[in-house]
Amino acid sequence: MKDLLRTSDLTELDIRLLLNLAAEFRAEPHRRPGTLRDDTVVLYFTKPSTRTRLSFETAVTRLGAVPVSVGPNELQLGRGETIEDTARVISAFAAALAVRTSSDDDLQRLAAAATIPVINALTDGHHPCQSLADLLTIRDHFGTLAGIKVAYLGAGNNVAHSLLEACAIVGTDISIASPAGHRIDPEIEASARDLAAVRGAKVVVTEDVDEAVRGADVVYTDVWLSMGEDPNETEVRREALRPYQVDAQVMSRASARAVFLHCLPAHRGEEVTAEVIDGPVSLVFTQAANRLWTEMGLLYGLCRGLLASSDEERSALQMSDAR
Ligand code: CP
Ligand code: NVA
Repeated sequence: MKDLLRTSDLTELDIRLLLNLAAEFRAEPHRRPGTLRDDTVVLYFTKPSTRTRLSFETAVTRLGAVPVSVGPNELQLGRGETIEDTARVISAFAAALAVRTSSDDDLQRLAAAATIPVINALTDGHHPCQSLADLLTIRDHFGTLAGIKVAYLGAGNNVAHSLLEACAIVGTDISIASPAGHRIDPEIEASARDLAAVRGAKVVVTEDVDEAVRGADVVYTDVWLSMGEDPNETEVRREALRPYQVDAQVMSRASARAVFLHCLPAHRGEEVTAEVIDGPVSLVFTQAANRLWTEMGLLYGLCRGLLASSDEERSALQMSDAR
């Protein structure tokens, strides 16, 4: 496996390996500084970012490489150079390429033409890097991913898609409540149901907040209008999504041990109240901090070729790394 374009590119074993690597990096942040020594990693972002860009830049630096961040007007891609030519040229210079852009198709074309690992740093369809930090936060808090129920309330967007795939792969139950017109992509829902079935996990997609949140150990939400979506839709979305706001009353209907997660940035008073996101059961800043460790684990795992390898191959690769 070369690239991470969506969470379902990963197997359950891959995810467990990545979470373990992340935890190792957190315990020893400057471990393996030679992984990418004297290399560069290109970060091509056509949308704003705080957590993803800064966590990748820090992760790349800690692994011994230099991050080169470029925006849409800084590459010839913005002037009509093809995606394929760009991918081939970057592959000649860099050890990996992380991309935040709108189109999943463009990202796939980049990855197909690149010979280095390509990482989805958020597209309109997916946010796999976020889902790894989400799982790490949940596993740290509850000590397990088994027997946990996650409820996502709100817009059926990139974050919801990746969270759904992540839960389905590791066998965590997940319910997603969104209003009509803002539901998750039915194809992603169908493929996640297949993945969840393998692990015996439950997937519920509903319009009913109560059904989703009842007994949930994790209540998760995200912005109602994502980057790149039409700002003229803001009012219509506020109207449709208001019943899906996570407030204290919603939290009281979840499990007694429920925690609150949000990928951030957040809009207090829209998808979540200040009382909840700034309250005692909110783990959002731990979750954001975990982005660094999961980016380190991911870069390490991809650049070392550890993902989707057999256990023997993995241990041979890790042993050669130790030397
Ligand atoms: N959660 C997340 O991806 O945040 P940024 O948009 O700030 O990178
Ligand atoms: N759904 C949001 C996530 C931001 C990290 C967006 O795409 O804007």
